[in-house]
Amino acid sequence: MRLILLGPPGAGKGTQAALLSGALKVPHISTGDIFRSNIKEKTELGKLVSGILESGGLVPDDVTCEIVKDRLMKDDCRNGFIMDGFPRTLPQAEMFESMLGENNQRIDAVINISLDDSVVVKRMSGRRMCPCGKVYHVLSHPPREEGVCDSCGSPLYIRDDDREETVLNRLKTYHDQTSPLIDFYSRRGLIIEIDGDKPIDATFQDILTALGRESDGV
Ligand code: AP5
Repeated sequence: MRLILLGPPGAGKGTQAALLSGALKVPHISTGDIFRSNIKEKTELGKLVSGILESGGLVPDDVTCEIVKDRLMKDDCRNGFIMDGFPRTLPQAEMFESMLGENNQRIDAVINISLDDSVVVKRMSGRRMCPCGKVYHVLSHPPREEGVCDSCGSPLYIRDDDREETVLNRLKTYHDQTSPLIDFYSRRGLIIEIDGDKPIDATFQDILTALGRESDGV
């Protein structure tokens, strides 16, 4: 199954992608995670994109598409993937379509998780991250012990771009450059609309139902 998760910052794309990856046994590919790990490792790519992420803008399309192309060549993508945060502009969507077309592949569905801007801003202030990749929220998805990851025991941290000013920039970027993709994929009959303002489990069940996968029992 080849899925794209669309939606504003904080809609729950990463949270749902991780759950879907477990249920559907295909990798969760997050361009944001790839950029953040390059920033952490201080690679050339990390140096190039660090200021862009900090400001809430977008990494250039050619750089982003090249990274996705490399990632899709890995063996674990043979049976599909869950794309979280890519594509994010019309040129990226067009490039992605031709990239897949070269291998006779196509997207099966695009899950558009919607959430009001006012909820986004509130939600982001409570997000806590673990270096191992787990994502928590102080209210809706707290760890068992405050500030500590349930899985690996590492201290949790706040993402640099979760400051309110940056969140507002990211929202503007989303409305200007990413939301036109809803039309792009609607015209291809691929959009599944999901309400992102329900509890995490309810949203997950809605997605599984829309994909006709209720029997996964997760
Ligand atoms: P990226 O990492 O993709 O950030 P984003 O799209 O802004 O999305 P987020 O990760 O902030 O939110 P999410 O929807 O995944 O929500 P989450 O599940 O964490 O990109 C970061 C940056 O990288 C971009 O700004 C850009 O600079 C660059 N970039 C990335 N991809 C790019 C591309 N293709 N092209 C160019 N540049 C690119 O949930 C949020 C919080 O809410 C968590 O605390 C979670 O626990 C909680 N939560 C989740 N679901 C619910 C729920 N249903 N109810 C209550 N709380 C919930």
